[in-house]
Amino acid sequence: MSTAAALTPINPPIPTHVAIIMDGNGRWAGQRNLPRTEGHRKGSENSLHILEAAGKIGVRYLTLYAFSVENWHRPADEVDALMRLLETYLDRYYDKLVEKKIRLRTIGDTAALPAHAREPLEKAIRDTAHFTGTSLVLALNYGSRNEVLRALRTCANDIASGQLNPDKLDWNAFASYLDTRDIPDPDLVIRTSGETRMSNFLLLQSAYAEWYFTPTLWPDFDENCFIEAVRVFSTRERRFGRTAEQLSPNRPKKPPQKIAEIS
Ligand code: FPP
Repeated sequence: MSTAAALTPINPPIPTHVAIIMDGNGRWAGQRNLPRTEGHRKGSENSLHILEAAGKIGVRYLTLYAFSVENWHRPADEVDALMRLLETYLDRYYDKLVEKKIRLRTIGDTAALPAHAREPLEKAIRDTAHFTGTSLVLALNYGSRNEVLRALRTCANDIASGQLNPDKLDWNAFASYLDTRDIPDPDLVIRTSGETRMSNFLLLQSAYAEWYFTPTLWPDFDENCFIEAVRVFSTRERRFGRTAEQLSPNRPKKPPQKIAEIS
């Protein structure tokens, strides 16, 4: 980690949960005449640096969108390379997770991953389950619509079998069927590479998240970029449907502006 990032003070609040759409690996590689997989390799290395940075500033949950349900439609060799990369990543960073007491979790339908990636993943999840420090949540074969459908099926079965009273179904009860059941909602969602889409990522959980979009490609999104995103987050006013005055009753009231003055 660079000294500049380590020394940059950030005013609270620090987000408890940061989720990231790591976009731009392919373009990063293309700009260097490298194969796309090289961009993914560099991107996977970068995710470890960001995990370290997140832990240092007190972020408790870091969710990384590593493979979406839609990513299966990419060329077979790229899908294969991403799965091999996941296996390599787990092999290379297993000791680091244990040393830093980082708990690994996943969201998404991981049963569909190939065994060579799924088995080391399951081992790392098991072996780190007791850690209470930062959680690294990998979104793998994840898509919000898929997650909601899977939740809905289980929930409908519980209603049909009489285990759940539909009149008691409120948001918290339904959220307990989602993959994120024991993970707080993200406070900050970052998307790199200049795209400003949500891409089926934590659509329900990010209902009140602050979004941060940056043109920086994921392999170039270093610790300083991450700290800057968190700094911007710390300046945002989160109202959760309330008025600014309700949140800070002592703030001086601004006189209403006329439209002519605004334009
Ligand atoms: C989007 O970039 C990135 C992905 C679809 C995969 C993200 C995967 C990694 C960063 C590597 C694996 C990570 C871990 C943690 C094991 P893109 O390929 O769509 O880039 P482009 O839009 O520039 O083509």
